[in-house]
Amino acid sequence: LRTAILISGRGSNMDALLAAARAPDFPAEIALVLSNRPDAPGLAKAKAAGVAVAAVDHKIYAGREEFERSLQLVLETYRIDFICLAGFMRLFTPWFIGQWSGRMLNIHPALLPSYRGLHTHERALADGVKIHGCTVHFVVPEMDEGPIVAQAAVPVLDDDTPDTLGARVLAQEHVIYPLALRLVASGKVRVAGNRVLGAPGES
Ligand code: GRF
Repeated sequence: LRTAILISGRGSNMDALLAAARAPDFPAEIALVLSNRPDAPGLAKAKAAGVAVAAVDHKIYAGREEFERSLQLVLETYRIDFICLAGFMRLFTPWFIGQWSGRMLNIHPALLPSYRGLHTHERALADGVKIHGCTVHFVVPEMDEGPIVAQAAVPVLDDDTPDTLGARVLAQEHVIYPLALRLVASGKVRVAGNRVLGAPGES
């Protein structure tokens, strides 16, 4: 499965996916790292690791559709058949999502359906929840919705700040994203409505 990782920033989840994909039995090959920000630190890291990289700068396009047409062209050029969003900070139109229906995963730093959107760690602390976490899900037109492939929970501690809580969650993101890609790419799970069946429950 020729997979592209789409990033906008530091790319720590990208690193985790690249590391996992080096295993000889991993069912997906990371064929491209693509960023909407030419200066994304993750892009330089991927390049240094010998992975094909590309940037499509959203700022030079008149609108979302023009930007996405260009993304699509790059993805086709690299014969990509699967996408992992990893800190990609642009929303897609239904057209683009339709092109990748059932073939695009995202990682979100909260236990969906709680805390969609931004600033999830701040909001979890403000609410006083005791359990927080992260979610890998298929991408559908609604933001931070879509069939859930894997989740991990972490405790919220009394002295947590958004940074300490975020770091605890991020460590789990790096565990479940490779796991989720492995499950999906190997065909071990299937989507039935809004549910992904066949994933190990303890993930
Ligand atoms: C992660 O917290 C991810 O859950 C969110 O954006 C952040 C990306 O971090 N979607 P990184 O670029 O993978 O380090």
